[in-house]
Amino acid sequence: MAKTVLIGSQWGDEGKGKIIDVLTANADWVVRYQGGNNAGHTVEIGDQKYVLHLTPSGILRDECKCVIGNGLVVDIVGLMGELTDLVKRGIKLDNRLFISDRAHIVFQYHKQQDATKEGRLEKGKKIGTTQRGIGPAYCDKADRIGLRMGDILESDFLDMVESHAEAKNKVIENLGGEPVDIDHLLAQVKEAADYLRPYICDTVPLLHEAVKNNDEILFEGAQGVMLDVDFGTYPFVTSSNTGAGGAPSGSGVPPNAIDRVVGIVKAYTTRVGEGPFPTELTDEMGAHIAKVGHEFGATTGRPRRCGWFDGVVAHYAAMVGGINEWALMKLDVLDAVETIKVCVAYDCDGERLTSVPASIRKLERCKPIYEDFKGWNCPTTECTSWDELPEQAKKYIQYLEKLTGVKVGILSIGPKRSSTLLLDR
Ligand code: GDP
Ligand code: IMO
Ligand code: MG
Repeated sequence: MAKTVLIGSQWGDEGKGKIIDVLTANADWVVRYQGGNNAGHTVEIGDQKYVLHLTPSGILRDECKCVIGNGLVVDIVGLMGELTDLVKRGIKLDNRLFISDRAHIVFQYHKQQDATKEGRLEKGKKIGTTQRGIGPAYCDKADRIGLRMGDILESDFLDMVESHAEAKNKVIENLGGEPVDIDHLLAQVKEAADYLRPYICDTVPLLHEAVKNNDEILFEGAQGVMLDVDFGTYPFVTSSNTGAGGAPSGSGVPPNAIDRVVGIVKAYTTRVGEGPFPTELTDEMGAHIAKVGHEFGATTGRPRRCGWFDGVVAHYAAMVGGINEWALMKLDVLDAVETIKVCVAYDCDGERLTSVPASIRKLERCKPIYEDFKGWNCPTTECTSWDELPEQAKKYIQYLEKLTGVKVGILSIGPKRSSTLLLDR
């Protein structure tokens, strides 16, 4: 049985939640391995819509076990809220949810630090973070001063939190921010710690057992390759390794156990937050895609910036991520577009680039080189096979495959589970 990593291959929100849910029909385990509740993964089942931030999307299938791996930073108050809502909606957690004792904790003071730091930055320098405390929590991890989920199991956990909060408040005050109310923080933390304690364990032996049993495991990436702290548009990135490389280090499952990487990619591109975006459309076409695609952030509600498919980005993501196949998402959003453009390379100061440059200054000077495609001008959501797709849509997909060197194995033509084609051509 396969061990498959699913990664976002653009700037996030490609539809990872939906594809995890579709593939979980056959999976034993779903493992989140990085990020935190900056993620917002949407799953639509019938008339029910779920937005998951920290809980692996496999929680919506009764048979599936879910792991919050060591590579995450966990907002324990946020997670308690998310789980409480899921339980109210009939989801069972016992013997299904396992939280790594090595995962780091995000506290209110991390969020306050995040907001204060962003607030001080001048326009053009702001990252546009989700203000979920992700950067400060990963900083504490790298600085070796963070608290981990396993610390919740210690009798002096609240004392540890108190002394960390006192030190952090000084940092926040030095930045010109409001310190957190420590009594309120401790009360919230105690409630969340009590709620989560039964789910905390060493997830490494658990996953090794699953590998040994030849279980089917899906690794659910968050964000996307262009937000990766190493390979993305630094510094306009998140603070973790969002690509397939994050899966072994963020779960403890060794790299040689992984068989397959699926890159989730939209038929166009979106980005939420600040930073360079070569194919961004600030005209009516951008507004059309945003409207038809309902492009609003699942975590913050912010409007997503929209643009044409960027073949340079997708090719680069495939290279860095070792992507074996694409899940091509939201093709239906282009149903009524007369002429579709695809960026095939960048022109940077007269030089033709086919790989994403490291320097964002250089990337900001890149002008996309486009090829035009005639649209198909008819609905695709009801199509049930490759053969039923309009000819022009097939040509578009085949063109993207040629451009990126990766085949489309899964095609998504609507938000529901049912609007998914597994292409076996
Ligand atoms: P994630 O963060 O990668 O899981 O993606 P989000 O959930 O943030 O955003 C994807 C959005 O697109 C969600 O609102 C999904 O319901 C929706 N969606 C997913 N696939 C499709 C599709 O093929 N067509 C359309 N129209 N919407 C889709
Ligand atoms: P999913 O998993 C889209 C963006 C933020 C900001 C940058 C840094 O739903 O695809 P952070 O709060 O992580 O420090 O913000 O990263 N960002 C996302 N954009 N989808 C996400 O997650 C994101 N998570 C973070 O907007 O630009
Ligand atoms: Mg999202």
